[in-house]
Amino acid sequence: MQRSKIAGIGHYVPKNVYTNKDLSRFMDTNDEWIQERTGIKERRFADRLEETTTTMGVEAAKIAIDRAGITAQDIDFIIFATLSPDYYFPGCGVLLQREMKMKEIGALDIRNQCSGFVYALSVADQFVKTGMYKNILVVGSEKHSFAMDFETRSRNVSVIFGDGAGAVVLQPAQKDHQGILSTHLHSDGAEAEILAMFYPGAHANKWLKDKPAYPDQELGGLFLTTEQLESGAALPYMDGPAVFKKAVVKFPEVIREALAANSLSEKDIDLLVPHQANLRISQYVQQLLGLSDEQVFNNIQKYGNTTAASVPIALCEAWEAGKIKDGDLVCLAAFGSGFTWASALIRW
Ligand code: UT7
Repeated sequence: MQRSKIAGIGHYVPKNVYTNKDLSRFMDTNDEWIQERTGIKERRFADRLEETTTTMGVEAAKIAIDRAGITAQDIDFIIFATLSPDYYFPGCGVLLQREMKMKEIGALDIRNQCSGFVYALSVADQFVKTGMYKNILVVGSEKHSFAMDFETRSRNVSVIFGDGAGAVVLQPAQKDHQGILSTHLHSDGAEAEILAMFYPGAHANKWLKDKPAYPDQELGGLFLTTEQLESGAALPYMDGPAVFKKAVVKFPEVIREALAANSLSEKDIDLLVPHQANLRISQYVQQLLGLSDEQVFNNIQKYGNTTAASVPIALCEAWEAGKIKDGDLVCLAAFGSGFTWASALIRW
């Protein structure tokens, strides 16, 4: 079966830099805590009015399309991964199609949070393998800053996340040895609520226990009272230590699964590009797999955790820095809310 390859890659990060010290002006936190627990030094926040998840995705896509040597008109399918869409619906895929004046092609949105890009890549890979599409644009983009709470009550979440976008163009591979070797997708919803944003959502009625929730009554299901909003009902929730513990098990597991599926081992990896969740998670995974510093790429120090954008941004920076050469074995791996986790093994 025809393999798919990454023919072009691009990324975009907003120009507004917020250091840890900047955040400590708004909430009770400090540079030492953030660096020690997460490795993050600074992150980017999008312009509140001018930039959206879609516009950042468009900027990354333009670079990826240009590097693939094609035009936006050549793209025959869009897959857009994000947890911070411009609208509750429709998704960012169609907004990108409009913005880039693409043909009336299919546009699919992926809601898999931190592993969204690897999931999206896997879906695109299947379409290329079957011969259905030849130029698929895969985007991961996040504007976390729009929903972040900069008060001390949310400091465990707000210091971690940042904004940005990455994109790739997937095409049929020309050389036999090249391309995506395999992808591996997993989920376990048993602990779906330990990293979640509950509102707006059909289950948001749980926040409305003392209020009627049907249209013929006083309030619709998507409305919160001022008191509920102020109490943080509409903010992202994360049990950080629980997520950490699961991540350090599932990252190595899904990486080893990819290696075993291709009769390869840890020493064959030229570059592991893990989702940038927390530098401590990456370092732990590196140690567990016995990988050298040269075999693992991290850039969370500069951007924080950009969820669905983190893998393509890191992959793009690694490629731009000359850390990925033709024939290299590149492993992508991600873990996050859901829980969902995934890996992809690519012969560059
Ligand atoms: O992208 C995938 C999804 N997310 C993740 O993978 C995140 C995984 N989890 C983590 O990265 C870590 O759990 C965090 C970085 C979120 C938190 O680090 P931790 O070492 O697990 O800290 P903790 O939540 O156990 O909190 C330790 C202390 C607490 O104080 P007390 O109760 O010991 O007095 C927190 O209140 O640190 C406090 N704390 C902070 N202090 C200063 C929590 N956030 C902050 C902060 N600044 N920003």
